[in-house]
Amino acid sequence: MYDAQRSPAVRAFLFAVSLFAAGAAGAQGQARPSAAEIAPTPQMGFNNWNSTHCRDEFNETMIRGIADKFIELGLKDAGYRYVDIDDCWANWQRDPQGNLMPNPERFPGGIKALADYIHSKGLRFGLYSSAGTWTCEPMKQNRGFPGGLGHESQDAALFASWGVDYLKYDNCNNQKMDAKQRYTAMGEALRKTGRPIFYAMCEWGENKAWGWAAASPVNANSWRTTGDIQDKYASMLKIFKQNVVLNEYAGPGHWNDPDMLEVGNGGMNETEYRSHFSLWAIMAAPLLIGTDLRTIKQPYLDILLNKEVIAVDQDPLGIQGRRIREKDGVHVIVKPLQDHKLAVALFNETDAAKQVSVTSAELGLDGGRKYRARDLWLHSDAPLADSLAVELPAHATAIYRIGVAP
Ligand code: GLA
Repeated sequence: MYDAQRSPAVRAFLFAVSLFAAGAAGAQGQARPSAAEIAPTPQMGFNNWNSTHCRDEFNETMIRGIADKFIELGLKDAGYRYVDIDDCWANWQRDPQGNLMPNPERFPGGIKALADYIHSKGLRFGLYSSAGTWTCEPMKQNRGFPGGLGHESQDAALFASWGVDYLKYDNCNNQKMDAKQRYTAMGEALRKTGRPIFYAMCEWGENKAWGWAAASPVNANSWRTTGDIQDKYASMLKIFKQNVVLNEYAGPGHWNDPDMLEVGNGGMNETEYRSHFSLWAIMAAPLLIGTDLRTIKQPYLDILLNKEVIAVDQDPLGIQGRRIREKDGVHVIVKPLQDHKLAVALFNETDAAKQVSVTSAELGLDGGRKYRARDLWLHSDAPLADSLAVELPAHATAIYRIGVAP
């Protein structure tokens, strides 16, 4: 029956019932958006770890400054959303009620105020904990930062009350307890808060999370597939090779995470950083900036702001690129995109320049049609004849978007 046909008293009663039902559903987690709604495409944002580790410069002034830079530098416009803080945000002990507290020197204003500030910019806020007794920062003078093991419900409720939108959940000091059990406990606790909180597992691939973490009851939105990245070409290359073979496990709501970006930190050259960014994009990996945006140099910022490469990562089909060739240090990866387009990355991992080509037939293109290939670093496009051919400098990647010619 249309609502206006009911008496005001009946309408008021029904409204009260619906509010109660919504509250109950929220409490049971039923009203919470699905994994695919929380993470329709891989997460984009910032995390301080790769640039600061636990140094004193990691504090609320820095993080507010980063949120400001998201707006000033056009990162929010380019799709970056999450401002995430990593290990060392917490105080050495819980309060007498067992609640986690922020470190008073780093975050004197508290976490809620920081989250409010980030939200006021239209951004989302992420926090860190570990599925263990302590986080990963090594103990100092017999003190560490408390982890979430055994405190999942209390911590998840606290995070929700602070306005946390994203949890990175690490694996240190896990007391050798079963990983699925530990990550399920936090997954369920987050779900029960009723708040949509992106659940980013970080068990480094030790338990092959890609095989079980997307499913209920864990409901993770991403999982690390490797150990920690370092700001070195060899580290990026090793991680790429571990992650590229896991393509079948990624999809909307649940992503392989080969760790955060090092672009801008200075340990690789621009060619290598362009490869890093291109490879993460074609692998539909999280794009989490790991450099201090308050001091980033323009050429590195230009890499992070390449909207055509970002669009490959964020394509709504959510398909992780598949490697179709690996030979003599050359990798060819293809990623289907919406509107019958295709992204193709050609990567030369070797220390010498190489002439690389891939035929239209290898790419599975229809021989009867005409295509165009757009180079997403040069921002230029050209008709594609029988093959894509390019001279790739050492460690370089060319990435293209291919579509039927108009
Ligand atoms: C682990 C994680 C890193 C980082 C540190 C923090 O090593 O894999 O990404 O969060 O802990 O201590």
